[in-house]
Parts: sequence; C-alpha cells; structure tokens
Amino acid sequence: MKIFLAGHRGLVGSAILKKLKQKGYKKIITASKSKLNLLNQNSVNNFLKKHKPKFVIVAAARVGGILANSIYGGQFIYENLQIQTNIIHCSYLNKIKNLIFLGSSCIYPKFSKQPIKEDYLLSGKLEETNEPYAVAKIAGIKMCQAYNKQYKTNYKCLMPANSYGPNDNYHLLNSHFFPALIHKAHICKIKNIKNITVWGSGRPFRELIFVDDIAEACIFFMNKKTKDSLINIGTGKDMSIKDYTKFILRKLDLKIKIKFNKSIPDGIYRKLLNVSKAKKYGWKAKTSLDMGFDITYESFIKRFKHLK
Ligand SMILES: NC(=O)c1ccc[n+]([C@@H]2O[C@H](COP(=O)([O-])OP(=O)(O)OC[C@H]3O[C@@H](n4cnc5c(N)ncnc54)[C@H](OP(=O)(O)O)[C@@H]3O)[C@@H](O)[C@H]2O)c1
Repeated sequence: MKIFLAGHRGLVGSAILKKLKQKGYKKIITASKSKLNLLNQNSVNNFLKKHKPKFVIVAAARVGGILANSIYGGQFIYENLQIQTNIIHCSYLNKIKNLIFLGSSCIYPKFSKQPIKEDYLLSGKLEETNEPYAVAKIAGIKMCQAYNKQYKTNYKCLMPANSYGPNDNYHLLNSHFFPALIHKAHICKIKNIKNITVWGSGRPFRELIFVDDIAEACIFFMNKKTKDSLINIGTGKDMSIKDYTKFILRKLDLKIKIKFNKSIPDGIYRKLLNVSKAKKYGWKAKTSLDMGFDITYESFIKRFKHLK
C-alpha cells in the first residue's frame, strides 16, 4: 500500500515514519517543505496526482505551546486550515479513499466533564488561549465527516493527548510544557542552578502520551474498520504540571526549588481523554511515563550535547 505521510520530520510524523518502516511498509512517500509547501493547493493536488497514494496521513501542522498559540493565533488558524483543507480536499479529488487526520485534545470545550468523550465536541465554549488552533482542528474533523457522508470516503480523525518524545520542539518559548520543562531542568543540572521556574501556577492537569504510542495508534487505525470517525488517543491518566516537574527533577536527580511564574496563563485546567472508544477497537497506549521519559531524555542529550 502506497502511503503519503505529510509532516514526516515533525515529532509525531517522524515517529510514524519510523514505525511504518519497522512494520515493513516500503512504499512511503514523503516530501520536505521546500519540495512541497502544503499551503499551496495546486502543489498538493499535483503531488497527489503524480504519486497516487492509497492512504494519506496528515501529521503536518503549525503546532506550539501556550505562548506560541496566543502570540501567533493568526498563523495557527490560517496555516492549519489551509494545510488540512488542501490535503483532505485534494485526497478526495484524487480518489484517495483512506486518510488519517491528526488533531489534538484541545478541540474539546473548556469545561468538559472529565474524562472527555468524543461526543462532547462542540458542546461548549473553547479554552481562549488556543482557540484559533482548536477551531482549525474542529474544521478538519467536520470536513472529514462531511466528506465521508457525501463522498463515501473513509477519513478518520485521531485526537491524541499532549505528546512528547524524540524529535520534539524544545524551544524555551514556543514549545509545549513537557519538552520545555526537560530543557529547563537540564540547564539547571549542567549549570548547577538551584531553582527552576515553571510557567503558570503548576496546578493544571495534563495527560501525556509517548509519541511512539500515537504512531502505533495511527497504523492500528489505518488498518482497522471503524464505525466512528473521531477517536481519542491517550493513556487515560493525567497529573498536575507541578507533579510532572517533580517527576523530571527526580529523574535528573535534582534537589532544587520549584518557582511558579503566575504572570503566564495556565491554559485549560484539565483535559483528560476518555479512551474507551479506542480500547473497544483493541488499541491501548503501552509506554509508561518512566520509560518514555528515559528514551526522550537520552535523545535530548544527544541532540543538545553542545549545551554546557
Ligand atoms: N505535539 C503534541 O503534543 C501533539 C499532541 C497531539 C496531537 N498532535 C498533532 O500531531 C500533528 C503533528 O504535530 P507535531 O507535534 O509532530 O508537530 P511538529 O513537530 O511541529 O511537526 C509538524 C510538521 O509539519 C510540517 N509542516 C508545517 N507546515 C508545513 C507546510 N506549510 N508545508 C509542509 N510541511 C509543513 C513541518 O515541516 P518542517 O519540519 O519542514 O517545518 C513538520 O514536519 C498535529 O496535527 C498536531 O495537532 C501533536
């Protein structure tokens, strides 16, 4: 089966590419941004016309943490709408029946009952700090569902919890909370700094899933017939940001003070996913936080060995 994987250099895309190769998939098509800018509909259409994949995985997106989402809201809504619309619509035009669209747990209402079921989509107001991103992702889901209904396609939307793993973005301002905390804690360790500053109050809860588990889920659902087109992908467990910080400090054997920068917003208080639908189909996350962290930190050290 010929597969087009969009976003193969990113955190999630690179894990999917690795997993596809491990599982023996040979006909995987990828293209760097300089060869195929997914913002350009003509280029996407010509690319799909030329390569004729049977399956498309959309792991390309404009992604970032709380600060990036609030500063670059315009880019987040425009680029995500454009990338996903181009890929989904051109897949339909080129008679590609199967596609996986990756979204995020931030699509659900701010005050959702926990754990969050797929049915809660559009049942309330969104969290303001990432509304443009969430609106784009919701549009992607609704587009897949409308195409399935009108054109009889099989476009599935997987909504993973916050992810982490090798190849993450560790930028101290633009990244997600967990890679940013790993980066900050590492700096404290190598520079012998006696305190770490966490953004916000540390009280919000977050669910983390190791990126290889998302990759497994993509391949699992690529090969699975499902009645549902929207499926949550998570571990079903969460912890406060303060506890994640304590966990990282323990792993790095750091006995330092945790400070909280409360001038930075907390974002949504909790967004624990109900993963019973995915489980019903036979998929479940395998990697413990402990194991996922060890793999991630080892790759972080290799990538940032210049930090002294
Ligand atoms: N990170 C998370 O915590 C998380 C959690 C749940 C779901 N997801 C979902 O998983 C997907 C991927 O996220 P990620 O964390 O892997 O993001 P990422 O690391 O930032 O990777 C995004 C990928 O998209 C590509 N891309 C962006 N704009 C492009 C364009 N105009 N043309 C071509 N390629 C473009 C990037 O290419 P370059 O490398 O060339 O820039 C990169 O390969 C997203 O849909 C996101 O919602 C992520």
